[in-house]
Amino acid sequence: MRSVALEDEPAGNTDAAAAADVVLVGVKPAMVPDLLREIAPVLRPGTIVVSIAAGVTIGTFTGILGDDVPVIRSMPNTPSLVRQGVTGLAAGPGVSTEDIAVVSELFSTVGTVIQVDEEQIDALSTISGSGPAYVFLLIEQLTAAAVGKGFDLAQARLMAEQTFIGAAALLAASDVDPAELRRRVTSPKGTTERAIAVLQDAHLDAVFATATDAALARAKELAAGG
Ligand SMILES: NC(=O)c1ccc[n+]([C@@H]2O[C@H](COP(=O)([O-])OP(=O)(O)OC[C@H]3O[C@@H](n4cnc5c(N)ncnc54)[C@H](OP(=O)(O)O)[C@@H]3O)[C@@H](O)[C@H]2O)c1
Repeated sequence: MRSVALEDEPAGNTDAAAAADVVLVGVKPAMVPDLLREIAPVLRPGTIVVSIAAGVTIGTFTGILGDDVPVIRSMPNTPSLVRQGVTGLAAGPGVSTEDIAVVSELFSTVGTVIQVDEEQIDALSTISGSGPAYVFLLIEQLTAAAVGKGFDLAQARLMAEQTFIGAAALLAASDVDPAELRRRVTSPKGTTERAIAVLQDAHLDAVFATATDAALARAKELAAGG
């Protein structure tokens, strides 16, 4: 891999784009149009342009690059850093099956790939894009509950964090769904059953539906320039 500082090599973007089969655009969303205007004149026919910029539509890309440039919009998540990511991909009009295969292969090096229509990319973002934050919040809350029961922070963190890591690993290694794995730790009339009843009475289903709706509404605001 070669990285280039534009301060030292002002033509770094155009040199890279002119030589690339796949161009991955990962600048801040507001900076995307300027970058596209910079590289548009040098792209070779057939070069695939992939966006990881949140909220920038395929239409914004093709509006600047031209309709004949294949554009794929992606939404990865942060567990990609440890190759356990989920990346949503949405293909623009000029994208071939081979283009999608190349870009899927690229993102599959850092996790799982799901192809969706562009209309669904913001919804996907509210689940897998923002999802790691929801999980970390649950871990924080379980840790706080442990501290409330008298454990010191180190013990509390170990219990809560390793339980999430262990449960996720158990799910990954098993061929049954999470509801069945939950039933297996929930003996009738047992202690876990009481706790699960409290959590379900708190309407977690509605809480998650409302939370992801709020994220979706914010994505629409951002797309509208807010
Ligand atoms: N974090 C996530 O989980 C996530 C998920 C999905 C999508 N995204 C998207 O990923 C993108 C990057 O986010 P980030 O938080 O990683 O931002 P960031 O840390 O600010 O990274 C932006 C990168 O773009 C470079 N850059 C800025 N202007 C450039 C230019 N004119 N030409 C070439 N390179 C330029 C920056 O280089 P310098 O540092 O040298 O300025 C920096 O390496 C955003 O579009 C965001 O919406 C992030």
